[in-house]
Amino acid sequence: SKRIVVLLSGNGSTLQALIDQQPVSHYEIVGVFSNCPDAYGLQRARNAHITGHAVDHKNFPNRSAFDQHLLQKINPLNPDYVVLAGYMRILSSEFVQHFSGRLINIHPSLLPKHKGLNTYQSTLALGDREHGTTVHFVSDELDSGAIILQASLPVHPVDTVQTLEQRVKAMEHKIYPLAVDWLCSGRLIGKDSVVWLDNHPLPKQGYL
Ligand code: GAR
Repeated sequence: SKRIVVLLSGNGSTLQALIDQQPVSHYEIVGVFSNCPDAYGLQRARNAHITGHAVDHKNFPNRSAFDQHLLQKINPLNPDYVVLAGYMRILSSEFVQHFSGRLINIHPSLLPKHKGLNTYQSTLALGDREHGTTVHFVSDELDSGAIILQASLPVHPVDTVQTLEQRVKAMEHKIYPLAVDWLCSGRLIGKDSVVWLDNHPLPKQGYL
């Protein structure tokens, strides 16, 4: 199985889904890092006997110094892939380049719609009829790398940020372990901003 490192900043329900599927997957989580020392995700890691590392970004003068330190901490773990799971800091170009093709993220919107923060708020404010989540390779530009997998759901007139988030997260907890497993079993390759699954290029818009 492949070695993966998970980066997070908060509650870690996405990490939990990855932990829960690990026994039936082609990956082993060899370390979890959080830029927020009190992130509950670190506790989830430790509960699963995975080392949880806190690297507080507040102790560093700038993004580049923080990311360099993070890289130094991650490299000895020899990860095949780095998986972002609610990691709420922008990564420097150096970090992204270092793990080029080996770094993926899940973002709570149907990219390219609603990049950045507060995707539920903007979906509701714009009156979108559907919302969802996207697994994608990380590139230098925020929330813009090659798309691996999306899941969508209808937005109900009575939806609030909370109800929408709850339904989207339930889908994220299914599709992220699936996508990470594809990656780690060699079924999925990200090359030149095109994603190949089982040696076939994916259609540009592949909704699950
Ligand atoms: C997830 O919904 C993930 O899609 C989102 O943060 C949440 C983390 O939840 N990621 C982003 O917004 C990245 N820009 P969790 O802490 O319970 O795993």
